[in-house]
Amino acid sequence: MKNNNVNTAVLLCNSDKGMEEEVNADDTQDRRGKGDIAERLPTVDESPSGASAMLPPLPSDLDDEINDLYRLVPEVGNHFTILNKIGEGAFSTVYKARLKHYPEIQEMFALKHIVPTSHPSRIENELRCLLKIGGQDNVMGVKLCLRNKDHVIVVMPLFSHDKFQDILPVVTVSEVREYMRNLMTALRRVHEFNVIHRDIKPSNFLYNRQKKEYALVDFGLASGTMLTTPKDEEGCEWQKLEQTTTSAAAAKGIKPADTPCTRGKGRQAKDDRSPLSPSKKAAGERNKSNIVSTVKSGLQLQKAGPSWQKGPMHKPSFPPLVPNGLCDCYGKPVICQLCVGRNNQLAPRAGTAGFRAPEVLMKSPDQSTAVDIWSAGVIFLSILSGRYPFFRAQDDMGYLAQIVSLLGTEACVQAASSFGKLLTLSEQTPTVDLRSACLKLRGVQTSSRAASSGSHVTSEVRDSWAVISDTPFDLLEKMLDPNPSSRISAKDALQHPFFAEEDEGSSS
Ligand SMILES: Nc1ncnc2c1ncn2[C@@H]1O[C@H](COP(=O)(O)OP(=O)(O)OP(=O)(O)O)[C@@H](O)[C@H]1O
Ligand SMILES: [Mg+2]
Repeated sequence: MKNNNVNTAVLLCNSDKGMEEEVNADDTQDRRGKGDIAERLPTVDESPSGASAMLPPLPSDLDDEINDLYRLVPEVGNHFTILNKIGEGAFSTVYKARLKHYPEIQEMFALKHIVPTSHPSRIENELRCLLKIGGQDNVMGVKLCLRNKDHVIVVMPLFSHDKFQDILPVVTVSEVREYMRNLMTALRRVHEFNVIHRDIKPSNFLYNRQKKEYALVDFGLASGTMLTTPKDEEGCEWQKLEQTTTSAAAAKGIKPADTPCTRGKGRQAKDDRSPLSPSKKAAGERNKSNIVSTVKSGLQLQKAGPSWQKGPMHKPSFPPLVPNGLCDCYGKPVICQLCVGRNNQLAPRAGTAGFRAPEVLMKSPDQSTAVDIWSAGVIFLSILSGRYPFFRAQDDMGYLAQIVSLLGTEACVQAASSFGKLLTLSEQTPTVDLRSACLKLRGVQTSSRAASSGSHVTSEVRDSWAVISDTPFDLLEKMLDPNPSSRISAKDALQHPFFAEEDEGSSS
């Protein structure tokens, strides 16, 4: 390889100084939202037979896209031949490539072209995570980074992986144990750095079934003490703002530019468009769901408002509380004028629909690494039940209602109160027994999915599920604890008896 320019790029990547002043991104635009298109793309094959000469011609629009990329970042074309597109998420497009001038080198690369409107701090954060955390314990590392103006390409080793949906019907309990052990190992590593990944989902935890290899990717939404908090020109913390990677949200035109700083400047604040905005939409949501009637902020959180509301630009503007310390609607399924006049409480909302923890859905401003454990618990739930995606709803309130109907009202109300939220429900529902629910769903799903996809469910698979012990469900319950402060950590999860069981034969 002609190394000079590439080395410069590596140095850029390693610089602690960051990229904020170097990357010329337009902060005022939204990151493109494309949803989980990656899930629909073909399984990544890293075989060297992917050499361009041996591939069928690419569709002309993809060819144009690749030529555009060569033009936008000439260094890419100088060093790599792009062979195909292998992933497309909300914030990037990922291509498979090989070295241009070294045909004898078979190694393949994943080139992640980050959407140019991404905030520079987010790009810096992603690189920082890949550099400092990645490269071990199932966390993806980085080879180098190329940049031209506002276009940034992160070059990673290509990780050949299987589709989560294809694996679901055919996994044995033993394989589930290994998958979860490796996912928890990756999370333990990330959480040791006090970093929250914030987008744990199957398409971000790559799995090569044949090689038994795993890789956690996509730190585009990560937050933590070692990372910079993107700020806009008025000092608003982007990290604290609601963000989304869902195509639905993108379709609704939710934009990072709609920060609280835009309030009063003629631009609609993002919070106002949030499905969980308590002030204006709660009444409408009540009509939609007969389970969750009201979610509103408790007084404790209003008093201890988040940091950005304390700065000079964001003096708290809550109307005074009524004499007894409560407003007119406290504890009632209505919203009084006093509360309508309050500023919305802002909280991080980064993540993907269906994987957000209850404290995220209920807009708790104090979020921790426990949000990743919840999302990993949802993956676990999907595997144990054979149902993916497990939660399907129109909006955050719908997801919350589904969580409540699974975990029971009592546990959810108590959890909400632990982070200062009052959850008022019109119906009492008991906790569902996760073991029987999962096995019932899996029994149905396994046979129907296997039949429709033509995959062969062996007797080994069937037998392993027939003798499954209680330990996986016990761990699942601890991961899906609605209370983030008692939810199990990745480190403790790895000590759980489920992982001490040798194989499904001895797990009965
Ligand atoms: N190193 C890699 N090797 C192979 N495939 C990869 C690699 N990195 C990413 N991909 C593929 O590209 C997809 C999108 O990558 P990534 O998740 O990093 O981008 P994103 O735009 O943030 O996606 P999303 O918003 O959907 O989570 C992944 O789901 C995966 O299928
Ligand atoms: Mg992703």
